[in-house]
Amino acid sequence: MGRDISYSIEDASEIQKSYQLHKDDYGNIKAITAAIKNPSNDHIAREIIMADWEAPMMKKHADIMCNSTQTYGGKDILEIGFGLGLSATYVQEMCDINSHTIIERHPQIAENARHWAKDKVGVKIIEGDWWDVRNEFLIYDGIFYDAEYDPHLENFWDSIKMTIKEGGIFTFFSHFGSTGKHSHNLVPEFKVKYEHMDISNITPNAGETGGEGVIFCEDSEENDYFLPYIKREFNTCI
Ligand SMILES: C[S@@+](CC[C@H](N)C(=O)[O-])C[C@H]1O[C@@H](n2cnc3c(N)ncnc32)[C@H](O)[C@@H]1O
Repeated sequence: MGRDISYSIEDASEIQKSYQLHKDDYGNIKAITAAIKNPSNDHIAREIIMADWEAPMMKKHADIMCNSTQTYGGKDILEIGFGLGLSATYVQEMCDINSHTIIERHPQIAENARHWAKDKVGVKIIEGDWWDVRNEFLIYDGIFYDAEYDPHLENFWDSIKMTIKEGGIFTFFSHFGSTGKHSHNLVPEFKVKYEHMDISNITPNAGETGGEGVIFCEDSEENDYFLPYIKREFNTCI
């Protein structure tokens, strides 16, 4: 497994306590870990919450946002969660950008994001929990939700749905992406479409704890990721 999904609401505070960036011999950032409380035994363990081998999936999430219906003057993109900045970097490479807003709640990661943004286009880093800064939402051509251990997860859809432009795309990382289902109540299931991705060539970093595949569901096929997204069609409500 890659990212761990067994957590409780209390983990949201635990995750604030400890973030660590792993670097390989060449100094490249490879993974973010955090202290997570295991709900079954109260043990606090380090869990990987983002790793660089997830890049192909991050690229696909960026791609689907950048291919939302073209609007004049470039796209307005919102990302929840900077992590390693993989999806953000792909957005910069693949989108004709008007604005690129990134909300990141962890101070250390937000600092990385500000450093990363120095030579990027149209970036605004908002440090904080999306829940606390939701009044700053504008309207967007593309929205990517990739937050871990979010105590307000079930409020996200109601908070965000009015901010998707006509023709715009909302997408989110799916822990159960290999089954075409998702693992939580982030969105109303019936509205979700899936884009298939072949992930048979993706290999986790050697030695990464539990990193034996991108499969987040034990009974799933290992070669497929079904990327979830919702498109707001023209002249429709969501
Ligand atoms: C899995 S990483 C994001 C990975 C990113 N898409 C990439 O390509 O590297 C999740 C990030 O979301 C941040 N995060 C988690 N919950 C959040 C919240 N409620 N509001 C803002 N950021 C949050 C975490 O601190 C972490 O940096």
